[in-house]
Amino acid sequence: MTELSRTRDILEAGDFSEANLAFLLDLRDAEAREHLRATAYAVKLATVGNKVYYRGLIEFSNVCSKNCLYCGIRSGNAEVERYTMTDDEVFENARWALEMNYGSVVLQSGEVSTPAFADRVERLVRGIKELSDGRLGITLSVGEQDEATYRRWYEAGAHRYLLRVETSSRELYARLHPADHDFDARVACLRSLRQVGYQVGTGVMIGLPGQTPLDLARDVLFFRELDVDMIGMGPFLPHHQTPLADGAGALPPQTAFERALAMISVVRCALPDVNIASTTALQAVEHTGREQGLLAGANIIMPNLTHTRYRTGYQLYDNKPCMDENAHMCRYCLEGRIQSIGETVGYGEWGDSPHARPRRDA
Ligand code: 5AD
Ligand code: SF4
Ligand code: FES
Repeated sequence: MTELSRTRDILEAGDFSEANLAFLLDLRDAEAREHLRATAYAVKLATVGNKVYYRGLIEFSNVCSKNCLYCGIRSGNAEVERYTMTDDEVFENARWALEMNYGSVVLQSGEVSTPAFADRVERLVRGIKELSDGRLGITLSVGEQDEATYRRWYEAGAHRYLLRVETSSRELYARLHPADHDFDARVACLRSLRQVGYQVGTGVMIGLPGQTPLDLARDVLFFRELDVDMIGMGPFLPHHQTPLADGAGALPPQTAFERALAMISVVRCALPDVNIASTTALQAVEHTGREQGLLAGANIIMPNLTHTRYRTGYQLYDNKPCMDENAHMCRYCLEGRIQSIGETVGYGEWGDSPHARPRRDA
């Protein structure tokens, strides 16, 4: 059987076994790859449509207590200048998002687990709810916290939370993190977030040292088992000031990029009604990377709102795009990119995934 005919059979039958997922993630034949992509795009149109939802991204601090081996802002990187935006600066970004009619914002920072940090995030969430009269949706992406803290922020008005598992392989997780970073604790956080009531987002990096197509196939099954609402994935890209700087054992960026697109398509086919982000890391490899992510099945874009004076401080990987562009420039640039592929922006809407809706209305 050719790769193309087996790809057709798997997708027609919707038979997403571990072995079939791994097969789809490792296609060599150009026609088979295109068939996967086109099928995923058709599934996307039928489930979430061709409207792209914006999540305005506010990277409010690069202070992080963790030391993930792959990340440019890990605590062990003494070369990064640390910054924390003031509350007013955060509110200024949020007000701009409101004026531009973005439906929601994401508050992201490194992981800090102090009472002062918990107070601050709560204050930011309440402030943004207030200044927007409840109109801006708020997503948090501030790492592992205890359930009581997650609950406080939820009660303050945050309704989505992003916490990537990075890889569902316990072995690989252990190789990419210091000994005190615990895979089970991370999964427990994902479960508490769901318990508290958040729409939960997770995701993985693609092309990590030693990561196989089978590992990624298991990631997809992990997303399904956890019943997540949102997925964010991108290529692993070495950062020069980290222990993984030389990229040894990792996929070359172009190959990681292509596999990330395949992963987006496979997730769209296997979990049709979730929201999938077309991540900035895709655009770090190819100029049109985010458009290609949308064409592979993604439906969410996170335009950066962070003030340019802070942008260089938030480099998780090398060659991050839009370092000198401000929120205005990214807005129009992204809108043009989205229109260039015949899609539209869902201004003024929260854009919850259909997957999350039944739970929200329940
Ligand atoms: N390459 C790609 N993605 C990275 N992230 C962190 N470091 C890198 C890197 N070197 C991703 C992680 C994290 C998210 C905020 O950024 O998946 O969860
Ligand atoms: Fe901190 Fe997140 Fe980077 Fe890990 S990936 S070092 S938790 S910012
Ligand atoms: Fe930022 Fe194009 S997306 S300038």
